[in-house]
Amino acid sequence: MTDRELLSLAKKASMNAYVPYSRFPVGAALECEDGTVFTGCNVENAALGSTICAERTACCKAVSEGHRSFKRVAIFADSENWPTPCGACRQFLHEFSPDMEILCSKAGDRYVSYKLSALMPHAFDY
Ligand code: THU
Repeated sequence: MTDRELLSLAKKASMNAYVPYSRFPVGAALECEDGTVFTGCNVENAALGSTICAERTACCKAVSEGHRSFKRVAIFADSENWPTPCGACRQFLHEFSPDMEILCSKAGDRYVSYKLSALMPHAFDY
């Protein structure tokens, strides 16, 4: 799968976002080592701290289906800034694949990519 195909799955996933509070839909498409893709969106809650981000939704879907090794995650949000994953999502993904690639896209054709290890150096572990 190309980067752009994965990004387009992330954009499609953002359409299912449940975002009555922030009105900020995010979508993610997580590609596993074996090529399986799990998508996710952000799911908000009236108890705001219970909100789950798109990346963690996708990651929990994957892990709960027996996948623990990831190659890439594509993230889409129609935002002004590149939608890089929040700190909690970085830590969460790092648990499984510290060297995975992170693709970020917003409206328009361009996207940026990072190694998770560059976005999350010295992640917590024990
Ligand atoms: N959000 C994500 O889905 N992923 C991130 O990495 C950062 C933030 C969501 C959470 C909330 O629903 C909305 O974006 C605004 O913070």
